[in-house]
Amino acid sequence: MLSALLEERNLPPLRPRAEMLELLQTEIYGRLPAAPEAMEFTVEPDVIWRFCAGKAVCDRVTARMVVNGKPFEFPFLATIPTVPGPHPFFIHINFRPDNPDRYMPTEELIDAGFAVLSFCYNDVSSDNGDFTDGLAGVLFENGARGPEDPGKIALWAWAAHRVMDYAETLTDRLDCTRSAVCGHSRLAKTALFTAATDTRFAFAYSNDSGCSGAALARGKTGESIRDICERFPFWFCENYKKYVDNEAAMPLDHHALLAAIAPRCVLVGSASEDAWADPDSEFLCCCAAAPAFDGGFPCPDRLPGDNVAFLDGRIGYHRRPGLHYFSRLDWQRLIEFIRLHS
Ligand code: GCU
Repeated sequence: MLSALLEERNLPPLRPRAEMLELLQTEIYGRLPAAPEAMEFTVEPDVIWRFCAGKAVCDRVTARMVVNGKPFEFPFLATIPTVPGPHPFFIHINFRPDNPDRYMPTEELIDAGFAVLSFCYNDVSSDNGDFTDGLAGVLFENGARGPEDPGKIALWAWAAHRVMDYAETLTDRLDCTRSAVCGHSRLAKTALFTAATDTRFAFAYSNDSGCSGAALARGKTGESIRDICERFPFWFCENYKKYVDNEAAMPLDHHALLAAIAPRCVLVGSASEDAWADPDSEFLCCCAAAPAFDGGFPCPDRLPGDNVAFLDGRIGYHRRPGLHYFSRLDWQRLIEFIRLHS
């Protein structure tokens, strides 16, 4: 039954990873900027030593760098268990700089043995069509973009790569072989692109990413490329507009985004009432990407119910009841997935 549903989508075949990365950049997200010319990290002196009842230390870090010959900096938080490491960790791309945050239950993550490095996407580049501020401002002359220049998702992903650069300097405290990048909604699209373009991430988690994230574009219900390009064209490269009402012309579909993460692990999460994201198109995307992952995607041969978790394969999927939100159950299943595959 699933194979019939997939056939209806008429998907282009998966390609070698290098080709998928090229198309993801030229057709959807834009080209990832080059790594900074120079960079240093400063741990600010206002460290919170007794965070989470003393179970963690929270450092406020500033990444200062030279990009395109110009200075750029952004802050992030590193909350790391006090007990000796190295610890598995999340790089959480968040909507707010708060810690904890409604999408980030820090104490529960610490109790589960994880560190969490988090940053607010707005501190990297504003979530709008202005390409003159933040990271966009140092990359583009007068804010003008060419057809393959990065959209905001690629800029936020680039910042997550910088946080990974920092994690790599803390080998006694952080275990990069158990690193996961995660985010919700537009920042889940970002988390997938982050891991697709940087093999240092061992895991990626997409929470309710939907359109232009983990959902297949062909045959998708809810939000379409037209919808997203009308409201958020700045998330993508200019080329992406070619596919408004024209999904069939895309030389790839979003199973390529998941497959570009293979052979590393990716978990896709949906919420059953999140019709705008289209949970079934997210699930079918995992099925279509599965051949790229060792062992494929172990799931029954039918569309899932409202509360399921298929965590045994290196590509996993879960669906929980309820609305669009990064909830506790999402985190719990992500932790279970990482434990199973570490
Ligand atoms: C809008 C948008 C989605 C996006 C979401 C979010 O709903 O249409 O594509 O995922 O915002 O980021 O919250």
